[in-house]
Amino acid sequence: MTIRILSTSTLVGPHIENLGHDFPELRIAPYRSTLWTEALPGAEALVVMLSEPLTEEDLELCTNVKVIGTYSVGTNHLPQVYCKARGIYIVNTPGVLTDATADLALTLLLALTRRVREGEALARSGDWKGWAPDLLLGSSLTGKTCGILGSGPIGRAFARRAWAMGMKVIFWDREGTHAPVDFGVNTSHRLPLDDLLRHSNVLSLHCPLTDQTRGILSREKLTLLPEGAFIINTSRGGIIDEPAAIELLRQKKLGGVGLDVYENEPDIDPQWRAIPGTVLLPHLGSATVETREAMSKLLCDGIRQALLTSGSDTGQD
Ligand code: DGY
Repeated sequence: MTIRILSTSTLVGPHIENLGHDFPELRIAPYRSTLWTEALPGAEALVVMLSEPLTEEDLELCTNVKVIGTYSVGTNHLPQVYCKARGIYIVNTPGVLTDATADLALTLLLALTRRVREGEALARSGDWKGWAPDLLLGSSLTGKTCGILGSGPIGRAFARRAWAMGMKVIFWDREGTHAPVDFGVNTSHRLPLDDLLRHSNVLSLHCPLTDQTRGILSREKLTLLPEGAFIINTSRGGIIDEPAAIELLRQKKLGGVGLDVYENEPDIDPQWRAIPGTVLLPHLGSATVETREAMSKLLCDGIRQALLTSGSDTGQD
């Protein structure tokens, strides 16, 4: 039987199973396994994870493909220009992971500024000698300025959290306009990148990885941040020059770096592990049960819709 929907993984919740009821020619085959490669020519829909890039060469093998679904909001691992030219529809999962990702960015920020890693380690070690006036002093957020790269839903959701912590919020985004950003509880300014960096005690990244944003936080740009600034990245690793950030952290020009994403995931530059002033997570931005189920639903509904509207039947005779 020809495989029409080829997914590299099951998804959280019942939705992919339900899709398989509608389209019995659905198969799960690990990314780049023999079965996966053999099924590519017949597949009309592909489902991949954000860690599984598809190349133009892969898609050249997929003569029948109509839709690609990615279990992520980010689409930087897909050849978007090529897909557009071939009329291949891309389904991703915007909207449903906004709060989960913004929550995780705030978790990183608080863990970093209140030294949660060191405090937890001390409490567990059995070496804690008791309360002391200067024990593990962190940094307050109230009254500080939070620069946000990206004024989309996740950037604005993070802005609400930063505002609730008493921070002043400023934005930069790819459009480069100076129009204010309404983030629901308040409005704030968009600034040119250099101005934003000069004022950001906290810098949180919420823009997609595109040709425009790749490497945008270069060494030169990072040195514009005020002494002791904190950087949080829950977006994509390629946006920031990681070796430059490591060097600035070592020189104590940065106060700390909290990362959920890395340039070469799942490989983490070992220097990040060795250096104090970091909190490192394994790409957990959308990792709540509710969010992952909602992502599954959105993705499977999109694949179903795309196959039905492209003239395919349901596969059930
Ligand atoms: C996505 O879905 O693209 C995000 O990276 C989730 O964390």
